[in-house]
Amino acid sequence: MPSISIEELFYWKKKQLSKGGDPQSLSLLLDSLGGITKNDYSLSIISSKDNLYLKNNLDYLSSIWDEYLTNSSPIQYLCGITYWRDLKLKVTDKVLIPRPETELIVDIVFKIFGKESQKLFFAELGTGSGAISIAISLAYPSWEGIATDIDPDALKIATRNFIESSEKSNLKFSCGSWWSPLESFKGKLDLVISNPPYIPRDTYDKLPKEVKNFEPKISLLGGEDGLIHIREIIQKAPLFIKNNGWLILENHFDQGEKVRQLFIENKFTSVEIVKDFSGIGRFTIGRYK
Ligand SMILES: C[S@@+](CC[C@H](N)C(=O)[O-])C[C@H]1O[C@@H](n2cnc3c(N)ncnc32)[C@H](O)[C@@H]1O
Repeated sequence: MPSISIEELFYWKKKQLSKGGDPQSLSLLLDSLGGITKNDYSLSIISSKDNLYLKNNLDYLSSIWDEYLTNSSPIQYLCGITYWRDLKLKVTDKVLIPRPETELIVDIVFKIFGKESQKLFFAELGTGSGAISIAISLAYPSWEGIATDIDPDALKIATRNFIESSEKSNLKFSCGSWWSPLESFKGKLDLVISNPPYIPRDTYDKLPKEVKNFEPKISLLGGEDGLIHIREIIQKAPLFIKNNGWLILENHFDQGEKVRQLFIENKFTSVEIVKDFSGIGRFTIGRYK
């Protein structure tokens, strides 16, 4: 293992940041491919420790940093991991990098269900890396969840993330389009969550290259108006959600009112648009009858 002094590491970090990028991305690189967490670094400074040990040498880490800056490759894909809520998740270019605003979905669940300890059944449609379902399964060990996705490669990553985050078996994974893997759960679900692809085509065409060139199109594009998947999910939801069960959807910044109408047309009550940290109506929630 290559060894390095704190001083050397300090100057290396300074040099990398002078080329571009931000300190959080550099920390992710040092943690995942260098094997030095932010904590290791701070503790070494406080305890005046002489040397730190790296998983890979600095030349290699510099080459990854250069690739990130030159090609606009997302640092999470280059490092193979991302942090989301308190989870450390494996990510590859087969899954969307879970976004910070999506973390709020889990807080919405906490707000609705509080410390509910009875056994409930939930499903997540389009789980990607598994972030949302894993966070819910860990928070509610008595619940049973099923996380679905149309992409078997995404499901492999989600399954692995669950195994590495939890010792429980209260989350299962199933492959297929939207409701099709849930035929045996008709009328049985207490909660359904989805962050489906919702970007309208003209917006998709203009996405920044670090998103459009790297993240899966199937995770982002929601048809011409962005609502093709949201419509399908809401229209079939009454077949699967129990009376008084909840549906929570993430939507694009300007879709809240249209999605609210779709909930109402499909017999949902207590329909509400929930804002994200930027004040954008990012989520729509409702109760089936
Ligand atoms: C916006 S990503 C959300 C991923 C993850 N839940 C998150 O919040 O980070 C949408 C996910 O839906 C999946 N998906 C796309 N079309 C689908 C379909 N017809 N049926 C099921 N899943 C689908 C994609 O593969 C992708 O993983």
